[in-house]
Amino acid sequence: MGTRFGSMTEDIPKGFIPAGNRPMVLRSIETLKACGIERIIIGTGYHKEKYEFLAQEIPCVECVFSPRFAETNSMYTLYHCRECIGDDDFLLLESDLVFEPRAITELLACSEPDVMLITPVTKFQDQYYVESDAEGRLTRCSVHREEVNAKGELVGIHKLSHVFYKRMCEDYEQQLPGADKLGYEYQLLRMSQNVMPVHVHCASHLHWYEIDDAQDLAFAEKHVIPFLPTKLNDMNIKRNVLLNPGPATTTDTVKMAQVVPDICPREKEFAGMMKQLRSDLLKVVHAPSDRYTSVLFCGSGTINIDICLNSLLPEGKKVLVVNNGAYSTRAVEICQYYGLPHIDLKSSVYEPAPLDAVEQALNENPDIALVYTTHHETGTGVLNPIREIGALAHAHGAIFVTDTTSSLGMIPLDVVKDNVDFCMASAQKGLMAMTGLSFIIGNERVIRESKDYPRRSYYCNLYLQYDFFERTGEMHFTPPVQTIYATIQALKEYFAEGEEAKFARHHRVYEALHDGLDQLGFRTVIKREWESGLVVSVLYPNDENWNFERVHDYCYEHGFTIYPGKISTTNTFRLCSLGAIDTPDIEAFFVVLRDALVATGVSIPIRY
Ligand SMILES: Cc1ncc(COP(=O)(O)O)c(C=O)c1O
Repeated sequence: MGTRFGSMTEDIPKGFIPAGNRPMVLRSIETLKACGIERIIIGTGYHKEKYEFLAQEIPCVECVFSPRFAETNSMYTLYHCRECIGDDDFLLLESDLVFEPRAITELLACSEPDVMLITPVTKFQDQYYVESDAEGRLTRCSVHREEVNAKGELVGIHKLSHVFYKRMCEDYEQQLPGADKLGYEYQLLRMSQNVMPVHVHCASHLHWYEIDDAQDLAFAEKHVIPFLPTKLNDMNIKRNVLLNPGPATTTDTVKMAQVVPDICPREKEFAGMMKQLRSDLLKVVHAPSDRYTSVLFCGSGTINIDICLNSLLPEGKKVLVVNNGAYSTRAVEICQYYGLPHIDLKSSVYEPAPLDAVEQALNENPDIALVYTTHHETGTGVLNPIREIGALAHAHGAIFVTDTTSSLGMIPLDVVKDNVDFCMASAQKGLMAMTGLSFIIGNERVIRESKDYPRRSYYCNLYLQYDFFERTGEMHFTPPVQTIYATIQALKEYFAEGEEAKFARHHRVYEALHDGLDQLGFRTVIKREWESGLVVSVLYPNDENWNFERVHDYCYEHGFTIYPGKISTTNTFRLCSLGAIDTPDIEAFFVVLRDALVATGVSIPIRY
């Protein structure tokens, strides 16, 4: 009845409370219809006339009134719907939920007939914890977490077959009249324990919330609704889990954000969007807007490295590239192509860059004006001490430029505290948007000063692009229009998830990767304390049947993408924790990886 909503539910049932400006029940109906559901039955009670009005307006909706709603519970209402449901299999949903369409499409895709949807335990509302056995059958539930070995928490959406439902009603009938206050979830549990199994499906990285009171509503509007699609057509997009180091798995809402009316990017409307986007990018790295600016480019991440190096070096000065991996080597190559005076300060790819060597190089070369390094060396997974390198650069009067392509938006970065003058990324990695948009965030004063530095490129010059943005609000040349729409949505989702929560999610995915690898006996290459928590480099097994391509292809066919290594002296492959994924994806991945190893004849445990 929604009594916890107070006066909000005086005249309407709970399902009619607007969440993100749309009544929850309407959201659910639209989502169900978009997922191909043709009949929707609503068990009504409190203010039933509101639902009955809806049924008149929406042809696929029917209502069944439960006259004793005030003194009974949800199982009684469900039992009351049996004639109307007839011999159909159906989905059972609670009325106070907001959820992504994937909640429905994943349930429909499950091969088992009777399925309870759960998600990993992450929420902090009153939860219903769910335990399942090794075969994924529901065994126990409790509102007290310590009472069960929780596999996840109940969402409140189920798939039930008519055979199951018939037996569920028969069993319930025998418990009446005493059981009229039973919640349907307890009857499901009783069925699974004694009569017919209910399977549990754990959906990964699913956005949903149960809205019980005004506080829940406020939380959902801030942290969940931004992930719910506003356009519901054609939402059944196959979800691939990308364990490569970007482009990463994206949410459906980011994918759909690209489907927009055609627009000329020279319109004021588009310039306004880019202005907001540039300012939101500053917030991701906590850059004060009076000292920093962001400049957008059309291109992949390498364009940023090229631009920073060719644009920010004054005449007669030198670049110091602190190089312990493939991406800093790329920076060295760029220096070579432009003929920029530079020092290639090479160190082991297996370890963070050594600070003493950086200091020594700076002491010995007072003409160094730009210190450059890669924050997270994606080729190995090593994280570099940028705060310390930045401090050394500043102490020697140089600017500090760091490639944060594979860390920005995942590892918290504060450009001021971390002594960063310029950082960079592309939209498809930490922000979980699409390829084609790259951006540099940097010190505005330095960009202005660079106006008088040698111009070494026409297309890739930082000052020219910055200046064009400042004067017109536009990119100098054609921007990647649809990618910009996707990035705007991705940023909305970034702020809704929150910096810390996102960091924590990537980290638990990373831990799950290590756990799974350990269980199979794989060895990794980089010391744990030096790893970024985003990439794990795994040593090839010493097994004559090991064939990375074949294992890759097997995983790929099953929806998981793994990636070759990038260390020239050691044979490795990489597993990464980027993207819109969570631990259930990793559990599912290791089932597939194990199968791939068996199918290709590789010994388990892995041999070295
Ligand atoms: C650290 C780093 N820098 C730069 C890049 C840019 O590469 P690309 O131009 O292929 O997007 C990447 C891509 O993986 C990266 O990880």
